[in-house]
Amino acid sequence: MFSARYVDVPINRYTRLLHPKLVTLIVTKSGDGRVNVMPASWAMPTSVDPPLLTVAVSPRRYTYELLQARGEFTVNPVPVGMKSVVDFTGSVSGREVDKARSAGIGLFDAKELSVPCVEGALSCIECSVWAQYPAGDHVLVVGRVRVARVLEDVWDGTTYILDRAKPLLHLGGDKYSTSESEI
Ligand SMILES: Cc1cc2nc3c(=O)[nH]c(=O)nc-3n(C[C@H](O)[C@H](O)[C@H](O)COP(=O)(O)O)c2cc1C
Repeated sequence: MFSARYVDVPINRYTRLLHPKLVTLIVTKSGDGRVNVMPASWAMPTSVDPPLLTVAVSPRRYTYELLQARGEFTVNPVPVGMKSVVDFTGSVSGREVDKARSAGIGLFDAKELSVPCVEGALSCIECSVWAQYPAGDHVLVVGRVRVARVLEDVWDGTTYILDRAKPLLHLGGDKYSTSESEI
């Protein structure tokens, strides 16, 4: 007999059932050259050939506006040590604050884009906008991956070395977790 009990989750909380998710920092740039950084946990691999990834971005975000302006972004998964950067960049909009400058976020040049990568992130995936699909209160922004780079020390050639990478996981809301070891 199957006896486990399931309880209803409010529909507007269904997203939490798909977490934890890696926290990434999405970097964009304005027409006048100002860099903006926003955390996103709704980013997912979408296609291998051509290499595509999708980020669900609310059109209310300054990041969305900058994606329309320049059509380029980088996706930077972060380690647990960067949680304070995630807290800050997720709590204010780049419309009000130059987040990269005021938080002293280190940036380095991307290989193919004018938009930079985040220092200390585990990896940097350079994308140009390939397609966009409105989806309810978010827009699915599909990026064509141009370049992908990873910190040498946390990569075994095919996957992250989890106990070195210590990726920051988002449980939902203001809750986070660390990943345990590989199984
Ligand atoms: C851990 C975390 C994950 C987030 N994931 C997303 C996401 O996937 N999509 C999104 O539109 N906003 C997401 N947000 C909210 C934005 O990061 C937040 O509203 C940010 O301040 C927007 O900055 P901007 O206006 O400078 O673009 C997330 C926030 C946090 C803290």
